[in-house]
Amino acid sequence: MSALLAITVTVRAADKPVSLQEIFKDHFLVGTAVNRNMVTGEAGFRRSAEQSAKDVALVKEQFNQISPENDLKWQLVHPRAGKDGYDFSAADAFVNFGLSNKMTVVGHTLVWHSQTPNWVFAGTNPPPTNATSFAAANTNAAPTNQIGRGRFGGGFGGFGVYTGPRASREELLQRMREHIHTVVGRYKGKIKTWDVVNEAIADGGGTNVLRNSLWLQIIGPDFIARAFEYAHEADPDAILRYNDYGLENPAKRKKLITLIKSLQAQKVPVHAIGSQAHLNVSINFEKMDETLTEIATLGLPIHITELDVNSAAGGQRGFGANVADNAATTQGGLVTDAEKKLADAYAGIFRAFLKHRDSVKMVTFWGVNDANSWRSQGKPLLFDVNAQPKPAFDAVMVEAKNISAAK
Ligand code: XIL
Repeated sequence: MSALLAITVTVRAADKPVSLQEIFKDHFLVGTAVNRNMVTGEAGFRRSAEQSAKDVALVKEQFNQISPENDLKWQLVHPRAGKDGYDFSAADAFVNFGLSNKMTVVGHTLVWHSQTPNWVFAGTNPPPTNATSFAAANTNAAPTNQIGRGRFGGGFGGFGVYTGPRASREELLQRMREHIHTVVGRYKGKIKTWDVVNEAIADGGGTNVLRNSLWLQIIGPDFIARAFEYAHEADPDAILRYNDYGLENPAKRKKLITLIKSLQAQKVPVHAIGSQAHLNVSINFEKMDETLTEIATLGLPIHITELDVNSAAGGQRGFGANVADNAATTQGGLVTDAEKKLADAYAGIFRAFLKHRDSVKMVTFWGVNDANSWRSQGKPLLFDVNAQPKPAFDAVMVEAKNISAAK
């Protein structure tokens, strides 16, 4: 009887397809961004309650790490000024979901130019009545030490670039510190990895290292160091990441290396590099190998934080991920032979992640399946809108099996 039972168990185990978290468990965590309806169990973003339940089942089966797609961003967690201006309901649900499913829970993100409410940058002195008095009265008006360029400001969700009277440097640092201490402090010991500063590097090949954000304009370039210091004070055990996109582009990567080396020289507590990896089907093993080889010279763990591979025609020009420009990247229908190209691209990048497995410690997909992706029309993930694995999923599994066979 017990022998029979043993056989049945073995057959069942063999029937169950191996999951991503299982197959990569000796190498890195495999995670996904989750959105609010998944952690609250309600219908929501493009999904009925039933579809959402399917998505949740997929999350539990495939992933051992989660990141919040939106609910820990400043706009969502701290929409109004002051200590009473927080709303932790969705963030608490996210953290509880992760902990109750024994997942590694990542915090995203503390300091960013996007999805940050205008009040954060606003001055508290009596507002000037017109632009002239603003310029005259405000010592923080248009700085002369700008070292960035490019898009900045809210740029999303109705929050345009804030143009009103500005906070002073001290005021903004104080708000930043209070926010970081409150949010990181609340989840101390629960959220063990934080994206502290997100997307502070300027796009393009110009000489400006930093993006011309309001953080930079009001505080100056040391806003980055201060943010890491505040986060480290709030939770000395947390792994603190610098997170950015487009690091597959050599010019942007060079800026990352300049920035991180300068932080390291100042002994700023930055513990890991987050590479968003919002890619398209032109990505391949060589490009990812070169990217990881160079980032690894910083001597820090590398986390792939927001992986997706866009297969829409409108997304093939680069590896940018400015939220404000996102809609255009999924236009124009899919590229020809999209499914095959997607599978090849995923195979190449996972081969590179595995080659660099001494550095790559976490790989997080930006969404569970194509239905809930921020680039849904670009069908960028391993699971389709019905939560079924795509050929790209199989291609990734093959890479994992090749590695274990070679060992
Ligand atoms: C995106 C979310 O996926 C969307 O739901 C939201 O509308 C905008 O932000 N880089 C980041 C992420 O760091 O936070 C962004 O997430 C995608 C680009």
